[in-house]
Amino acid sequence: MNQPHAKREQWSGQYGFILAAVGSAIGLGNIWRFPGVAYTNGGGAFLIPYLVALLTAGIPILLLDYSLGHRYRGSSPAVFRRISKKWEALGWFQVVISLVIMTYYAVILAWAVRYMFFSFNEAWGSDTLNFFVGDFLQLSAPGEGANVVPGIFWPLVAVWTAAAVVIALGVTRGLERISRFFIPFLIVIFAALVIRALFLPGATAGLDAFFTPNWAALADPQVWIAAYSQIFFSLSVAFGIMLTYSSYLGKRTNVISTGLVTGLANSSFEILAGIGVFATLGYMATQQGVGVGDLEGITGPILSFVTFPAIISLMPGGPVFGVLFFASLVIAGFTSLVSLIQVVSAALQEKFALGRRLASLTATGLSGLASVFVFSTSNGLNALDVVDKFINELGIVTAAILMTFLVTFIAKKLPVLRQHLNHYSSLKLGTWWYALVGVVTPGILALTLVLTGYSLITEGYGDYPETFVYQYGWFMIVGVAFVSFVLAFVPWRTPVDDYDPVVFHEAGASLESKPSRPASTPAQPSEQF
Ligand code: ALA
Repeated sequence: MNQPHAKREQWSGQYGFILAAVGSAIGLGNIWRFPGVAYTNGGGAFLIPYLVALLTAGIPILLLDYSLGHRYRGSSPAVFRRISKKWEALGWFQVVISLVIMTYYAVILAWAVRYMFFSFNEAWGSDTLNFFVGDFLQLSAPGEGANVVPGIFWPLVAVWTAAAVVIALGVTRGLERISRFFIPFLIVIFAALVIRALFLPGATAGLDAFFTPNWAALADPQVWIAAYSQIFFSLSVAFGIMLTYSSYLGKRTNVISTGLVTGLANSSFEILAGIGVFATLGYMATQQGVGVGDLEGITGPILSFVTFPAIISLMPGGPVFGVLFFASLVIAGFTSLVSLIQVVSAALQEKFALGRRLASLTATGLSGLASVFVFSTSNGLNALDVVDKFINELGIVTAAILMTFLVTFIAKKLPVLRQHLNHYSSLKLGTWWYALVGVVTPGILALTLVLTGYSLITEGYGDYPETFVYQYGWFMIVGVAFVSFVLAFVPWRTPVDDYDPVVFHEAGASLESKPSRPASTPAQPSEQF
């Protein structure tokens, strides 16, 4: 039965929203992903595609997400349905992508929780690689053995429980409150870590390696793909997070400046993380008498869970550094994890008329189970690596292409969204925004999608057996699309088409390009679009 729409939750103000959005953006992507991606893709030269990607796609798509959420006031499926009924599945595609990401994201947090405690007595010993893959993960060959590892299971249960409580508390009392507390704290401890790292002997060798550009890398399309994919993941755009978060903004919000602050804060933190990590690597290389370029294990989980523990064991005051480093990972990751869960929880709440607590329990319960049975097993790291590759480079990229295509060419909403964004902003978006959102971003993304797809089809991924890549890569991504279509066909239990849009009127006329009505005609929500 349809119910009248309940009053939407709202952030306490612009500051609270910015902290929550920055909390979502700054995550594992900044601390463990960016330094490794930058290093393997041209070092200092990577900053060029990175900044190009930030300015041409990251911030423009962040503003698109904000305008969609703020204007159409809903979760992703509701927003895309309100734009065009046939496109609800795109909203579910974003929701299911978030669901998949959170299943492995939480596991990395669980690892970081354990490593925070290991840091006290450097429990990893002298062989940090063997400790991580052997003692800790009990890693088996890809596809073989999938026993749940107790040492990961319990911290994982703690992570999911804490996250469920935050989501159940709601937007202001849960999401906003933890960001208000944790984000300033994170910035302080991370800045302290970076300053400490800069004073380590050999730090400058690391900074040289990070900032010395390998210009030839700029000619490699793979470097550009890496930059765009890093920006989308890191800014939390195109998979529902920023769209959902902005749907809880008050009507009179300067959305553009909020977006700029979020984008710049995220990238500043990311570059700061790069500086800190490379200063530390410089120290390690100097201690070992090798060049930074000769160090191995500067990517992905190995960087944080093998190379860093080794450095912590080398440095004076290592345990303090270790506790703070892993605490930073936990805090940054947790405020991002809850934003991923909110995407799913908000969609379930609206589609199935669930209360906030039940939606929170359903979202965390569903993904918590998947998280335990797939990623906390001895096969977890392998599965995580393949799923992460496919969901980012195929899933998020496809969602971004479809979203820009729908808004630009099918629904033709860019002009009205630009006016929406400009309404309360002194800084106005020009028509160049149409070009970036409608042509440049989808064009570049389509090219990266084709190149990545081609390479995955012809070369497979890494050294993984073909069946393993099928299972966790191709079947997973096709499954995500399939589930999205199915969910789009399930009837809504709330009156999704009867909502309270934020529509700004200028000079008495609706912003939409419909002919203006006589002033005496009462406005119907659907008429204004
Ligand atoms: N934006 C989040 C991160 O960077 C998901 O980890």
